[in-house]
Amino acid sequence: MTEHGPAIVADNASKLFADGAVVAFRRLSLEVRSREILCIVGPSGCGKTTLLRCIAGLTDISDGRLVVHGKPVQGPPDGVATVFQHFGLLPWKTVYDNAAFGLAMAGTSSTIIRERVNHYLALAGLTGFEKHYPYQLSGGMQQRVGLVRALATNPSVLLMDEPFAALDAQTREVLQEELLALMQRPDERKTMVFITHSIDEAIILGDRIAVMSARPARIAEIIDLPFGWPRDVDAVRADPRFAALREHIWNQLRPQRAGARAKEAVA
Ligand SMILES: Nc1ncnc2c1ncn2[C@@H]1O[C@H](COP(=O)(O)OP(=O)(O)O)[C@@H](O)[C@H]1O
Ligand SMILES: [Mg+2]
Repeated sequence: MTEHGPAIVADNASKLFADGAVVAFRRLSLEVRSREILCIVGPSGCGKTTLLRCIAGLTDISDGRLVVHGKPVQGPPDGVATVFQHFGLLPWKTVYDNAAFGLAMAGTSSTIIRERVNHYLALAGLTGFEKHYPYQLSGGMQQRVGLVRALATNPSVLLMDEPFAALDAQTREVLQEELLALMQRPDERKTMVFITHSIDEAIILGDRIAVMSARPARIAEIIDLPFGWPRDVDAVRADPRFAALREHIWNQLRPQRAGARAKEAVA
């Protein structure tokens, strides 16, 4: 695993469905730097989830090149963990067993599982809830378990697919701050690809933002965010550059939104 060079490279990668009737993305190129937080925004249905699933090795690209840690993706790469929008917890398993799931699947010893799971449960404020079941938890707590499950596998790349989209606005802000606090710890910092519908969220969390175009998707623009680390969410929101960036990205997405609507109308 290299600390140098990009963590993920997509080079003219395409993904087609239904024998080419649906092109999720075509000749898409993107580099994700090691230990950066790259947020991806784009219109609904443009292929964000598909791109993430390809990086996670859950489905193959149709053409081009996709490389994680220097190796072409063929099945789930080592050191990559995913957090999904709808938590993906097993309802019949406790918080502890859900959090331990990835490690248990990998055949990790129970001593190491206990150490890692308890470490992240504590960081996520879930100590004391180990024996609870998902239905006994709020949405925010369920997604913290989803995050703990991913982090416990000690990934170097964390893929997040709109992980906070199903949460209410307040809980979402709390989880954003918790995630930032975690990523600010040098020992916990990872390469992260974070897909979101929320322009604000992308600006608050990202080192860079990749704006995807409507289908067939490409990377329309990459924005370097001027806010450094450690990052204070309130200070970022109050920064005049926040509003300017927000407007810029909104304008980037607007014609594509109109285009997507027109396409839907004729479909
Ligand atoms: N398994 C599949 N079979 C056929 N079409 C699919 C499949 N998965 C996704 N799609 C299509 O690919 C496009 C991109 O979907 P998706 O990646 O979920 O978009 P996003 O996450 O940006 O909203 C959509 O038009 C969707 O209907
Ligand atoms: Mg999606």
